[in-house]
Amino acid sequence: MIQVGVIGCGKIAQTRHLPEYADHAQVNIAAVYDLDFERAKGVAKTYGARACASVEELLADKHIEAVSVCVANASHFEVSAAAMRAGKHVLCEKPMAVTLEQCEEMVRISEETGRYLMIGHNQRLTKTHLRAKELVSQGEIGKVLSFRTTFGHSGPESWMIDRSNNWFFDKSRAQFGALADLGVHKTDLIQFLTGKRIRKVTAKLNTLHKTDDAGKKLDVDDHAVCIYEMEDGIVGTMTAGWTYYGREDNSTVLYGTEGIMYIYCDENFSIVIEKKDGSRVCHQIDRIQTNTDQTKSGIIDAWVACLLEKKQPGISGAEALSAMKAIFAASESSRTGRTVEVK
Ligand SMILES: NC(=O)c1ccc[n+]([C@@H]2O[C@H](COP(=O)([O-])OP(=O)(O)OC[C@H]3O[C@@H](n4cnc5c(N)ncnc54)[C@H](O)[C@@H]3O)[C@@H](O)[C@H]2O)c1
Repeated sequence: MIQVGVIGCGKIAQTRHLPEYADHAQVNIAAVYDLDFERAKGVAKTYGARACASVEELLADKHIEAVSVCVANASHFEVSAAAMRAGKHVLCEKPMAVTLEQCEEMVRISEETGRYLMIGHNQRLTKTHLRAKELVSQGEIGKVLSFRTTFGHSGPESWMIDRSNNWFFDKSRAQFGALADLGVHKTDLIQFLTGKRIRKVTAKLNTLHKTDDAGKKLDVDDHAVCIYEMEDGIVGTMTAGWTYYGREDNSTVLYGTEGIMYIYCDENFSIVIEKKDGSRVCHQIDRIQTNTDQTKSGIIDAWVACLLEKKQPGISGAEALSAMKAIFAASESSRTGRTVEVK
């Protein structure tokens, strides 16, 4: 039985990490911690865990082998680094951290301590995305030439556990807006689907519509448009928005030499392939998780499998670092008005 701890007991912990751990036959949620002790106590009661009064108390528990880090973005580094140094394997939520230096340091600490570091890029794990990758690898649409991928909804304010404490809109705690909140998922996904790294980024970040409670325009972006140039010359767009005031858009289209693959574009079929000879193949696989329709993400099963089998996670810190480099490059591109190379 693997003993785990959960640090940060807000919405993502309550909708994903805690229930998915509780669902796993080989996991016991030993302890939880949150800055809001009442919240930690409530969660501890639900899951039969111990509520810790400090993060140090949780990390000092020798029985705990691994932790989920589900705190606000600006604390990902501090908490993950302390956990790995205390000997715990870490599953940290996305975005990995808020500066490039912090992301690189997390990878370094993972290597130095020999602790696994996995980042919550759960989009890779949907059955549809896994099948799409397989179909691309089998050459179903030929060589991928270009793409467009997007993730947008009406903003985190409808998702938050505590609407009065919206850290997503506070630059000091979130650092980025829609770009890193939603865009990092698709940035990771497009590298996964194409098997190529992003090499150059041209981007425009905006705050189109969101304001704080006082009516002041946010100082984080609520909309991002990025042009990604990949290795081998594949070019495409990645857009992310908290300004899609309707149904969530979580779609990706890959344009290949032999046809087009539409992923999560069609109501009934999660993959539709249109070949250049006019034929059409439809796959009904799953529906994507949305803020209002939570299905099992698979992230905990994938994480626990690594712990049980003692193998490095596929979505490792090093892997997530490459997506984060594109995110930092997008931010720089928007600031400078230049195309930025991803090193
Ligand atoms: N993978 C995904 O699809 C996905 C979806 C939503 C959120 N997230 C990520 O999960 C993280 C948490 O988001 P959320 O929506 O659950 O937010 P939330 O505000 O609902 O929960 C965060 C919790 O962490 C606590 N907290 C903050 N800083 C802390 C610290 N230093 N130590 C202990 N507790 C602390 C808060 O009190 C709160 O209870 C964010 O990084 C977010 O980007 C990922």
